[in-house]
Amino acid sequence: METNLKILVIGTGYVGLITALGLAEVGHDITATDIDEGKISRLKKCEPIIFEEGLEELLHKHKNNIKYKIFSSDIIADYDVIFICVGTPQNYDGSTNLSYLDAVSHQIAKGMKDDKYVLIVNKSTVPPKTARRVENIIKSNKQNALFDVASNPEFLKEGTAINDFLNPDRIVVGADNPDAFDIMEKIYKPFVNKGFSLYKTDVTSAELIKYASNVFLATKITFVNELSHLCEQIGADITKVTQGMGLDPRIGDKFLNAGPGYGGSCFPKDTLSLSNFAKQEGVTTNLIDAVISVNSSHVLSLSYKTKQFFARIWDGHDTNKHIAVLGLSFKAGTDDVRDSVALRIIPILLDAGYTITAYDPAAMDNARSILPNVTMASSIEEALDGKDGILLLTEWDEFKHINWSSIKPKLRYPAIMDMRNIYDRDHLKGLGYNIWSIGRSEV
Ligand code: UGA
Repeated sequence: METNLKILVIGTGYVGLITALGLAEVGHDITATDIDEGKISRLKKCEPIIFEEGLEELLHKHKNNIKYKIFSSDIIADYDVIFICVGTPQNYDGSTNLSYLDAVSHQIAKGMKDDKYVLIVNKSTVPPKTARRVENIIKSNKQNALFDVASNPEFLKEGTAINDFLNPDRIVVGADNPDAFDIMEKIYKPFVNKGFSLYKTDVTSAELIKYASNVFLATKITFVNELSHLCEQIGADITKVTQGMGLDPRIGDKFLNAGPGYGGSCFPKDTLSLSNFAKQEGVTTNLIDAVISVNSSHVLSLSYKTKQFFARIWDGHDTNKHIAVLGLSFKAGTDDVRDSVALRIIPILLDAGYTITAYDPAAMDNARSILPNVTMASSIEEALDGKDGILLLTEWDEFKHINWSSIKPKLRYPAIMDMRNIYDRDHLKGLGYNIWSIGRSEV
């Protein structure tokens, strides 16, 4: 890459680390920083600090290209562009906690040189008008500062983060000044040269695009989940309904899989945050509020259905109510259990007197301390052995390829609750299983 831009990335969480590596991959001069010394020392040794496919290889590949440093205001003056990628967690009232972002903005102001222009790019997920907030902090701490604040939201998904960054659906850049756009165009030129589109807009609209995209996807999922209850009631099949809907290009066939409800570090937080932000602005968000509440009650309803299903299977028989839960992460491909549905359904079942052994290919370490009364198995076979039933919560590939025929003699009751529709019901029925699949009739 021929630009001489020196780029500083602040924060090495999901967004920051992948941004640093992705921009290094296309040839930029990158320094990645964090206040967490432990993270920086591990990154220097190329140790992956998050669970992400291909991360370790990329860390090694760019071992000598990326400089890893502890963040401090002293280093700010060396850089032309600063990407803010710090965490923006949720406050108790659902609003977004901007304290890390505020702290970093103060540090940037402290470290800026009087006569040197710097472009500050916000990549953290934040409510609209946050760029203005950063701008105000800087202006009030450094009167003559030469700078712009741009918004460049990130759309990567956990589990496919590197691929998503390097092959983006779109690159959104919000800025209010041509100089800022020029710099962002230079940074993303290698992507645009490959045919990826760069969408330019004003800062506040760019900020809203990020929230609107996540909340719209959460709405799509919630619509399908609500419909799944109706399908069960009337004997329709949600997988066929969504396939049929998806043939309409205006609807599209993505993100229409019924499941136990959306989870993770983004959708639950962003739906709440957008609703909270809109209310602060005096705007009601009935639809978004309904999405939040339907997603929440969906989990309760599925917990109830689980208890009903197993009660029917066990009715009149001897049972230990000891089931295997397959999957703890909020989706496949990640070890992340933040706002995972498993963490809501499992306690309800424990309260109902169930004993639970769980297995997850990646998330057991993260779930252990949150679910101290759950036994973690060391393999799928161990999880299933001798159980009175199976509850599938996460769509990991490993779970798709279980040999149900050879497992069956080891189960006390061949009964499966499939909350991701990954199993062929007729095949399992042929093997003598009772199977309940979300949004489809029980067989
Ligand atoms: C989401 C967005 O998809 C990314 O574009 C965005 O950048 C990211 O949030 C973010 O804001 O950082 P992620 O949280 O990694 O990415 O997970 P998704 O793959 O979107 O899944 C979210 C939830 O929806 C999961 O619980 C998943 O199981 C569920 N889901 C997804 C369904 O139940 N059905 C579907 O059809 C798709």
